Amino acid sequence: MKDASVGINDNLSRVLILVTFAPFMNNSEFNSSKVIDESRQGSATLLDNTSEAGKRKLYLESYGCQMNFSDSEIVASVLMEQGFVTTPDPKQADVVLLNTCAIRENAELRVRQRLQDFKNEKRSRPGLIIGLLGCMAERLKTRLLQEEKLVDLVAGPDAYRDLPALISQVDSGQKAVNVLLSREETYADISPVRLGSNGVSAYISIMRGCDNMCSFCVVPFTRGRERSRDPESIVQEARELFDQGYREVTLLGQNVDSYIYAGGGLKKDILTEEQKANSTSFAALLKMVAEVSPDLRVRFSTSNPRDMTNDVLHTIAEYENICNYIHLPVQSGSTSMLDRMNRGYTREMYEERIEAIKRIIPDCAISTDIITGFCGETEEEHQETLSLMEWVGYHFAYMFKYSERPGTMAHRKFKDDVEESVKSQRLSEIVALQQKLSHKRTRTMNGQTFKVLVEGPSKKSADHLKGRNSQNAVCVFPKDNHKPGDYVYFVAEECTSATLIGRTVSDFVTV
Ligand code: 5AD
Ligand code: SF4
Repeated sequence: MKDASVGINDNLSRVLILVTFAPFMNNSEFNSSKVIDESRQGSATLLDNTSEAGKRKLYLESYGCQMNFSDSEIVASVLMEQGFVTTPDPKQADVVLLNTCAIRENAELRVRQRLQDFKNEKRSRPGLIIGLLGCMAERLKTRLLQEEKLVDLVAGPDAYRDLPALISQVDSGQKAVNVLLSREETYADISPVRLGSNGVSAYISIMRGCDNMCSFCVVPFTRGRERSRDPESIVQEARELFDQGYREVTLLGQNVDSYIYAGGGLKKDILTEEQKANSTSFAALLKMVAEVSPDLRVRFSTSNPRDMTNDVLHTIAEYENICNYIHLPVQSGSTSMLDRMNRGYTREMYEERIEAIKRIIPDCAISTDIITGFCGETEEEHQETLSLMEWVGYHFAYMFKYSERPGTMAHRKFKDDVEESVKSQRLSEIVALQQKLSHKRTRTMNGQTFKVLVEGPSKKSADHLKGRNSQNAVCVFPKDNHKPGDYVYFVAEECTSATLIGRTVSDFVTV
């Protein structure tokens, strides 16, 4: 999928407007902590294999959001410790693992198709071990292990330390499964291997699970209750990355504003005033990471309107190296719809949060997630989403057709009653509007100077480099003597719908 394009994939009930403000645009790709990056779906996870002789070969394929890709780095790390090496070729593999996503039906369908491919491979190589990891594990374990016999091993998102034991169990001729969700697991002590990295930007997982129970969402069931990772281990990981030459970290969580660490365990168990007084909040964590070095940029995703405090906003404003970019999913602009979605806020409350962002961080870019065609959505409610989008003037949006997920509150309580054709029609209306808004945002940046972190070569020209400004806009400029990891001052002289094109200068200038 290209920068500067509008990507529509109806099959996946998902639309992306790939303008410059995709969260965490990374080379030609973009990634967001929760949002599925089509260009990376099903990509193989590869390690730098040093000595391969006699070692078992792992083929690891990842689907879903950035959290899942980050988990694959943990899986790879655990198995590398056990002497595995990775292979890009499933035909060479002794063990094939698929790290899966369950957020929309099509994500699951794609994985099932892939499992069928591997089952065929296993017919000619019966020793091949096939395992299913991630969000599909809990719901489909019985069906895939016993009924359809598509896999030998199933491990849920909190069971990755157990993978070596599960593989041994399969070696001894049994099926193996561990889908237990943990109260404690944050993988804090596992140093993830960095996969597919540009050597400049890396992800740090700061929490796991989600307690919000939005009615459409399967995540609280697949990834369990919310727990935060020890801040010291997060800061240490950021420090190590900085020492290795990385210049940007993105703190990942389903709801980063809800981060709270009071010695470990579930968020819901942090009850006493004393625990709360001695806890670390997300604002405090942001400060700690920002203070690793003024040359380490800090990004984060995903924020949540009901938990995002002014403290967090003031911290972003206070530190130059915390990027002025907030991904604040709204899902719908209609209060009645938000109520059915169990989002915990009204349109007015969301607007108040946007006003706070604009007041405290005036040049902050804002992006969002929107679901169209959720249960009972009327034309009027849909129009309210359009009017909210105009009112906010989002830089970027991820837009989805509602996909009913078994076991969710919406599945139990409501009917998925918006016609497919109506969902599609509404989706194309919000996509068209967002395209207009994104273009407008890019144009307002033209002519300004930005501090840009250089990420690597531009896709279109070997003589040009690309990087991003604090607001996450992609900037392209002549290479000169700059290299990835450098900070440059950049004047935007022209723009496409997606990209700022210009030149580097010695300091802030106005043109
Ligand atoms: N159908 C469609 N989109 C969904 N999302 C979450 N669950 C569903 C679903 N059942 C979207 C939300 C969320 C993003 C990660 O995925 O917009 O913010
Ligand atoms: Fe799902 Fe809502 Fe949690 Fe996001 S905040 S992961 S949409 S339950």
